[in-house]
Amino acid sequence: MSLLSDLDALDAQMAADALDTPEAAEAFRVRYLGRKAGALTDLFKRLPELPAEDRRAVGARLNALREQAEARVAEAEAALNAAEKAAQPGLDLSLPGRRPVPGAGSRHVLTQTLDEILRVFGRLGFAVAEGPELETDFFNFTALGFPPDHPARDMQDTFFVAEDKSLLLRTHTSPVQIRTMIADGVPLRIVAPGRVYRNEDITYKSYNLFHQVEGLYVDEGVTFADLKAVLRLFAEAMFGSDVKMRFRPSFFPFTEPSAEVDIWSDALGGRWLEILGCGMVDPVLFAHTGVDAERYTGYAFGMGVERIAMLRHGIEDIRLLYENDVRLLEQFG
Ligand code: DAH
Repeated sequence: MSLLSDLDALDAQMAADALDTPEAAEAFRVRYLGRKAGALTDLFKRLPELPAEDRRAVGARLNALREQAEARVAEAEAALNAAEKAAQPGLDLSLPGRRPVPGAGSRHVLTQTLDEILRVFGRLGFAVAEGPELETDFFNFTALGFPPDHPARDMQDTFFVAEDKSLLLRTHTSPVQIRTMIADGVPLRIVAPGRVYRNEDITYKSYNLFHQVEGLYVDEGVTFADLKAVLRLFAEAMFGSDVKMRFRPSFFPFTEPSAEVDIWSDALGGRWLEILGCGMVDPVLFAHTGVDAERYTGYAFGMGVERIAMLRHGIEDIRLLYENDVRLLEQFG
């Protein structure tokens, strides 16, 4: 009987088919189970050709074959899905962990230095004050005793923001002295950290922007001896008790007398490096801020944070502090 021999042939053919790719599995499904032209579907349709007494047995065989075909397709799909998943990079908990890059996500060496400076002055009773980076001529120059058109203004190569030079990027943190004396009055003991800007060529020792910490102490009876004592304490806290420092006479329009402080560095080739300017607050500042100059005296200082970081860590080139090269950063993780 032809239908039965067709069934045997189909059985053999199904068994021989490999379902090893998604395409092969789909072709198999269409070939045997497809609703329009599937071989098994066809045979089901031909059941009525059989004599009634055979239909039951042949129908059962067809059903068994169809279940077998469906099972093979399901099995092949499951196997192929599993293989696809295994081929994708998954989460393997047995792999060794990735080492965090030291320095990534940690405080920059400049920030560490700044924090340390503020911590030392905090212990000495200095509060933190701040001022804007965009300044006026009045606070950055005039109130600090720079006469109009005086060459001392040119010493600080200024980035002007307004054509008439009335607005500028502050060239130092000293304007915070003026702002704080006006806002808070005296007595006063503050440090003012922040960015300052200079229109200078970039070299190993100078950069367009850098950081300063300004200090100001105004009270009755403040002397130069107090200034020397506090800066000595500061230097020992930052560089160790065997630090070699010297005061050099200098000039600033806002202090009288004025001095600069150098620190000796073996690490940077055995030489003196200037870290700050300082002096006794010039009474001209008191005149601008309404402080009674008969009653009060004060000292002030302004230090370079980059210089101090370079000295502490033997960093020879200021540009390294602004390049974010991991090879530098990871040394301070
Ligand atoms: N403002 C000065 C500068 O940037 C540094 C300075 C010197 C600050 C003497 C002071 C000071 O407060 O008393 O060069």
